[in-house]
Amino acid sequence: MRIPSTIGSRPTHAGRDASAWTVESLERDTRWIVLLDDNDRANLLAGLKAGRIADKPLLDYCRSDFPFGEMVLSKLRSAIDEAQHGLGVALVRGMPRAGIDPDQFELLTWAIGLHFGVARPQDRQTRYINAVKDVGVDYRSPTGRGYSSNAELDFHADGGDVVLLSCWNQAPEGGDSLCASGVSAWRQLVVERPDLAAVLESEPVPFSRQGEQAEGEAPFTLLPVFARTDSDVLCAWNRNRIQNGLKLPGAPACSAAQREGLELLDAILRRPQFMYRMRLQPGDIQILSNLTTLHSRTAFTDYPEPERKRILYRLWIATPDGRRLPASWRDKWGATEPGVVKGGMRGHQYDDRCRAFEARQAADLGMRMA
Ligand SMILES: [Fe+2]
Repeated sequence: MRIPSTIGSRPTHAGRDASAWTVESLERDTRWIVLLDDNDRANLLAGLKAGRIADKPLLDYCRSDFPFGEMVLSKLRSAIDEAQHGLGVALVRGMPRAGIDPDQFELLTWAIGLHFGVARPQDRQTRYINAVKDVGVDYRSPTGRGYSSNAELDFHADGGDVVLLSCWNQAPEGGDSLCASGVSAWRQLVVERPDLAAVLESEPVPFSRQGEQAEGEAPFTLLPVFARTDSDVLCAWNRNRIQNGLKLPGAPACSAAQREGLELLDAILRRPQFMYRMRLQPGDIQILSNLTTLHSRTAFTDYPEPERKRILYRLWIATPDGRRLPASWRDKWGATEPGVVKGGMRGHQYDDRCRAFEARQAADLGMRMA
């Protein structure tokens, strides 16, 4: 599916039903695509140059180091608003690449994140930003992570209020991004099988932590796939983690109705009216809600030359205006209240430096620590 090249600096989609999109509605109204212009690119590069210090650790930067200017920040803000409070999907197109290298592009992604939220750790090594590239990892192994493989991924959500995925290089073949609205899928499920919808809302399932649990955390966390809030329904589907979670000692088994519900949910997400396909281009940032939108990716074949290989940078952030989560999701997210730093995976190297970074960044954005 081709993305129309319309300009998109404008008010966000809003309202209770905004996150229940279909492929047809996404294609009809493309205000979720924000195009950056030459001025924006110049401002981003100037801010990057002002803040960047070679070899400075990412956790030592703060947002005032990167003065991007209000113009481009307001465009980026509209995309993050769209992802959080509108459709649940946004695309920023036209990030600068000329004159910078992949490390600087990664820092630029990091710096943008500093302006909008508190980055969350993502893995065993407690990394707060990860390169999404094929390093030969087996996605289906008990500790495998999809971002380090070239495999087709299951639909899933990541671990912060929103995920930013910036594209430095795309593969020559495959690697298309797929996304679907968990809210639309929920509504379809309710229409077709209200009995199974009720099961997925009321009965928790085990999500494996893929061996990345921090001290004191169990190897899996139990939560229902769908959870209703005052204003909406949220979705936490992740087949790979549930399949692995079910194999862990002490994990409760899935009932036949749960299995049937999960299979139907996955089938609904892949129907043509719900599954949107987009191909990220170098210089794009895809921004998604991890509460209402599910995402996936097709398998890819890469270039042989190291400098041309597919590489994207993934950042999870907790935002000052993130949604309130249901109480049943507290164990996985660490907190449920809006304005509190939540989500992520502390991993095995969460230390005083991590705590200091998060506390400083939270204070800067007017947020509280859990
Ligand atoms: Fe993901």
